[in-house]
Amino acid sequence: MTIQWFPGHMAKARREVTEKLKLVDIIFELVDARIPISSSNPMLQDIIQQKPRLILLNKADMADQRLTKKWIEAYEDRGLKALAINAQAGNGMKEIVKAAQEILHEKRERQKAKGLKPRPVRAMIIGIPNVGKSTLINRLAKKNIAKTGNTPGVTRAQQWIKVGKELELLDTPGILWPKFEDPETGYKLALTGAIKDTLLNMQDIAVFGLRYLEENYPDRLMERYELSEIPDDIDHLFDHIASQRGCIAQGGDTDYDKTADVIVKDLRTQKFGTITFDLPDKDPV
Ligand code: G4P
Repeated sequence: MTIQWFPGHMAKARREVTEKLKLVDIIFELVDARIPISSSNPMLQDIIQQKPRLILLNKADMADQRLTKKWIEAYEDRGLKALAINAQAGNGMKEIVKAAQEILHEKRERQKAKGLKPRPVRAMIIGIPNVGKSTLINRLAKKNIAKTGNTPGVTRAQQWIKVGKELELLDTPGILWPKFEDPETGYKLALTGAIKDTLLNMQDIAVFGLRYLEENYPDRLMERYELSEIPDDIDHLFDHIASQRGCIAQGGDTDYDKTADVIVKDLRTQKFGTITFDLPDKDPV
């Protein structure tokens, strides 16, 4: 999947989301639990304005549980409700309906007081590509709904999916691209597999990953690459990993590109365990 950075696409995606907003009571903002901030779109608040929002930290199975808890608290401090879910396994689905009802409770009580008949909560999912939007829709719908392309401009009639008696979900999600002004966000998106073919240099991504592990999960780094201590010099660390993993070029030198591929693959496939790359105290909500 290729990320489109073009402002024209962003404007179009924004228009489409704005159109659909009118149809729903609440937004389910899907983010990657490993990178709640880097996988969100900074314009979302501006686009949805006063529309209530429930934050779903998806792929929680791959995130550091301790930090997921801290993220939920950080959102709570900002007056936002967040839930950790695993759309692939279907964990946390019941809680979504319950939380949506709680968020909308007052509004619904006001409607009741005016004599309006209660109807199911209407919701739409918004998120960046690959965050698990289709997986979640299918989970909630309990059937397989064809995946729509990530290309904005593919419009068709909206359909509502009934999720029990209490919730109706738009069958097409809103897609907003991540917006990265700093390379770190790009590295994190690349390391979590949100972007695959990337404009970023693979060695830079690997170096970022190694430094992050060194700082936050040094034991796991040492265990994976059988290190008794972490070398100060990043080149030496690359050399060690290269010799351990057979990434040697002709002539016996380290093949840095191949080594970078190995490191990035190890990070993407949870070889260091569950890791969270955005930190609530460093990347606040
Ligand atoms: P999108 O609609 O937002 O673009 O995302 P989609 O549902 O297609 O999900 C992207 C990938 O993420 C899928 O893997 C999906 O199975 C996986 N995924 C979604 N939710 C979860 C979750 O809670 N936990 C885990 N571990 N994985 C999840 P895929 O089809 O294998 O694609 P890929 O891995 O080749 O990208």
